[in-house]
Amino acid sequence: MFAIIMKISIIFHSYSGITRGVAEKIQAACGGDLIEVSPKTPYNKITEYTTGSMRARREEADPVEPGEIDLASADLIVIGTPVWFWKTTPVTNGAINALRNGEGKKAVLFATCGSKAGETIPIMKKTLARKGVTVIGEHVLTRRDIIEGEKVAEVVDAVKAAVGNP
Ligand SMILES: Cc1cc2nc3c(=O)[nH]c(=O)nc-3n(C[C@H](O)[C@H](O)[C@H](O)COP(=O)(O)O)c2cc1C
Repeated sequence: MFAIIMKISIIFHSYSGITRGVAEKIQAACGGDLIEVSPKTPYNKITEYTTGSMRARREEADPVEPGEIDLASADLIVIGTPVWFWKTTPVTNGAINALRNGEGKKAVLFATCGSKAGETIPIMKKTLARKGVTVIGEHVLTRRDIIEGEKVAEVVDAVKAAVGNP
């Protein structure tokens, strides 16, 4: 009997910890590598709005760590982002720029937000398409959804289904 181990790369940005919490729940339930992406210049209580939101609004990408994320051995990519100014954070845009060898791979996306994700998921889909990555699942989780837990379980189920592990 052979067990086929599917490798899941769970890539996320998290400024205040909420997206990280969801990413950790996915990893706990499904396995995989957690890859936290951080800006080279960290944000603070002032610059998150003065610089961060404005860069998000213009769909700009921050220089990030790690500078390259190699997906060659990934069977499934999961990408999580907070919503800033109804868009992807500049750090997540930087993370997508940093992807390597993603051509032909599949991704499940999730965004965490206070109440409205706006254009966040469409922006991620557009930039991932340029990397040859196909989005097979998209989930928006408000603060309330995360407290209630049901939608987090839906993301976990989608990831399990994508790797054929119900
Ligand atoms: C700079 C900034 C801008 C934000 N803009 C939005 C927004 O446009 N819509 C929304 O629903 N929530 C917005 N939020 C709330 C965050 O998306 C939400 O709290 C998210 O879950 C935070 O994730 P994190 O803890 O992983 O950073 C914003 C938060 C910050 C700090």
